[in-house]
Amino acid sequence: MEKRAYGAFALAGAMTFSLLSAAPLTAEDRGDRWQLAALTVAGVDAQEMEEMKAAYRRPAEVPFPEDNPFSAAKAKLGKMLFFDPRLSGSNLISCASCHNPSFAWEDGQPTGAGHGMNRLGRHTPTVLNLAWGEVFFWDGRADSLEEQALGPIQADVEMAQPLDTLIAELEEVEGYRRLFEEAFPGQGITAEGIAMAIATYERTIVSGKAPFDRWVEGEESAISRSAKRGFVIYNTKGRCSACHSGWNLTDDSFHDIGLETDDVGREQVVEMPEFRHTFKTPGLRNIVQRAPYMHNGSLATLSEVVEHYDRGFFRRPSLSDDIRPLSLTRQEKADLVAFLETLTSEDEPVALPLLPN
Ligand code: HEC
Ligand code: HEC
Repeated sequence: MEKRAYGAFALAGAMTFSLLSAAPLTAEDRGDRWQLAALTVAGVDAQEMEEMKAAYRRPAEVPFPEDNPFSAAKAKLGKMLFFDPRLSGSNLISCASCHNPSFAWEDGQPTGAGHGMNRLGRHTPTVLNLAWGEVFFWDGRADSLEEQALGPIQADVEMAQPLDTLIAELEEVEGYRRLFEEAFPGQGITAEGIAMAIATYERTIVSGKAPFDRWVEGEESAISRSAKRGFVIYNTKGRCSACHSGWNLTDDSFHDIGLETDDVGREQVVEMPEFRHTFKTPGLRNIVQRAPYMHNGSLATLSEVVEHYDRGFFRRPSLSDDIRPLSLTRQEKADLVAFLETLTSEDEPVALPLLPN
């Protein structure tokens, strides 16, 4: 019934249109009006739009470093270690307790809880798309995923497990002896092997194709008109692409965006005042699933994030030059959020590994 009514309405619409166009038909009058509108979004024509889109094309391959190339055996072992609570001193906390695939590899909390339910000082970042990362942690204090991996295992506030105790524990598990032998023949179970396996698995955690990607590849109806306008604002008036650039929407660099915080951020690593309150730009893939936002989890929703950039920031000497009042209209703010919502991948959920005994 409903379909028919809609059909009749559409026909009536078309008839009205042709009745009105008594004068010679221009492209617009010919009922191409909607098509022309589709070609120009928020004042950007089709060619400019193609150029903008090109900067966001997904890469064809996942990069692995020469000193730790991909192997299926390492990735399989790394996945088990990532999900295994036996990596922690309490045998209760795994990497995935905080980097949980159900929250796009975060934990859904402003700041997570570690060993003994200790509150952590910073919000848990996602581990999505880190194969493309150059520096790690909010303040960039680790140079590689291999270097990063052993940190949380030993950290008192996170997993509180000394490495030699962990290695002794893993050696008692027959399944792990076999998996390490397959991944690192003749080397036994070592801290280096643990780090290399976890890092290899992490590099396979890549956000899947999102509606936005389908649109970039030419499927015009993959995202809404509002989201397309939002994409234009993202790249122009909103200045977002100054920092959130490329297919993973990050420049992997450090900026102070004016959040109220006592955390000095990167200044702790590089002792220069211009790094005060600067944090690594997070990628924005699957961002709707990753609330709350920022290094301190202080913003609860994407609308709050947009309000922050529009005019809600705190001025101080270290504030980035790219953070300025934006004067976005209500519609533009809604469009920006609609665009951010198209960055969620449509993948199957991650299958949890069966852990060895
Ligand atoms: C108790 C919660 C918790 C656990 C458990 C945990 N992490 Fe994290 N992870 C965090 C937090 C919080 C940060 C950010 C810390 C910072 O930047 O100072 C982080 C940062 C990271 C980063 C850096 C991400 C980036 O964008 O730079 C990686 C990679 C990572 N963790 C991997 C792991 C691995 C591998 C394990 C298990 C061996 C693990 N984490 C266990 C909370 C946790
Ligand atoms: C000057 C560089 C810069 C600009 C411009 C910028 N961002 Fe950010 N963005 C960052 C940094 C750095 C962070 C992390 C800040 C922190 O936690 O202290 C961030 C965080 C975010 C987050 C939260 C991510 C997370 O994982 O918690 C979102 C969402 C976001 N930005 C969206 C936007 C949008 C939308 C715009 C445009 C209106 C924009 N950004 C403009 C650098 C920038």
